Amino acid sequence: MTLYQDLWAQLPIPGLMIGLNDSILDVNMAAEQFLGVSSKMVLGHHVWNFLRGEDLLSAGINRARAIGQPIVITDVFAHGRNTEPLPCAAHVCPLGGAEPYILVLIIPHDTLGNSGNGTAPISAAHSAIGMAEMLAHEIKNPLAGITGAAQFLSMSLPPEEHEMTDLIVEESKRIVALLDQVEQFGDVTPPNYAEVNVHDVLDQASRSATFGFAGNIKITKNYDPSLPNVRVDSNQMVQVFLNLIKNACEALGEEGEILVRTFYDPSLRLVMPDSNRQRMPLHVDITDNGPGLPEAISKHVFDPFVSSKLNGKGLGLALVSKIVAQHNAWVSVISRPGQTTFRISLPVKIRK
Ligand SMILES: Nc1ncnc2c1ncn2[C@@H]1O[C@H](COP(=O)(O)OP(=O)(O)OP(=O)(O)O)[C@@H](O)[C@H]1O
Ligand SMILES: [Mg+2]
Repeated sequence: MTLYQDLWAQLPIPGLMIGLNDSILDVNMAAEQFLGVSSKMVLGHHVWNFLRGEDLLSAGINRARAIGQPIVITDVFAHGRNTEPLPCAAHVCPLGGAEPYILVLIIPHDTLGNSGNGTAPISAAHSAIGMAEMLAHEIKNPLAGITGAAQFLSMSLPPEEHEMTDLIVEESKRIVALLDQVEQFGDVTPPNYAEVNVHDVLDQASRSATFGFAGNIKITKNYDPSLPNVRVDSNQMVQVFLNLIKNACEALGEEGEILVRTFYDPSLRLVMPDSNRQRMPLHVDITDNGPGLPEAISKHVFDPFVSSKLNGKGLGLALVSKIVAQHNAWVSVISRPGQTTFRISLPVKIRK
């Protein structure tokens, strides 16, 4: 057995190799288990006799074959003939070569890791934030008193002795800024929706970033000008993109590049709680060439108060997650050293 055959056999993710006419050329051990059949039973047979996964899966395979590009279907219920449907992601990759093979990897959501993250962190966020919000409110009043007292004290001290009182005032300001952010997170005013061009929103965010914290960093734009308008609260979406660009800048440090790309891909649909499938075809990718998500926290970056930064509050992505969920949109991240992409996928009503 070659190394690759060994790898294929041991891969803990169900994998199927599909040939022309959707016949099964190979399945690995995880796929045998997932489908509840042995490889001998399925080889050479039509894949849809064994793999069930709504029209979405077959449409994904056809599309990947047609465009010759890999496709990720983030949400599909897949199962074998006699196994329970499981919410999964499916990666469909056409493999180059004389024969147009398609590799299908089925990844049940409980093994998905950090590549999808929409509404799940929100409930955890709500309980933690509810408490933090209450605390924020209670701390701000006495803090104002402490700051005022320090300022009053400094008036009776010679300038060379202001160091301590200045420190009290500065640190208090920092705490107030943190509390403001917590309160902003707890803000429950509903989004003020309007039809906007997502590129205007992105331009506004990148302009603020360039004049603010991103002076040294090159922000390249690759927009699809044919995108239809989206219905969003543009102030909130500016906040989303600003947070993502800010994180990218902080990951890059002194030098690096950020690419802001927009494109249309109708293959992503989400199953909503009312079991309606919502199309989410308009995508915004914010990619940086920094070191990638720190491994220790990579699965929790959307949770509040998770941060790897010295002065980080860990609220940026929690806020992104909250706003995105309110918009019935989707945020996901794919990260490796040298390339981290946060993707916002937005619903649109009609393709113009
Ligand atoms: N583009 C990125 N590259 C590498 N790591 C990132 C990136 N974006 C986020 N992270 C990681 O995710 C963590 C959480 O991000 P988040 O924006 O929620 O908080 P923060 O940036 O640490 O603090 P805050 O945004 O509240 O000031 C970061 O501390 C960082 O470790
Ligand atoms: Mg941040």
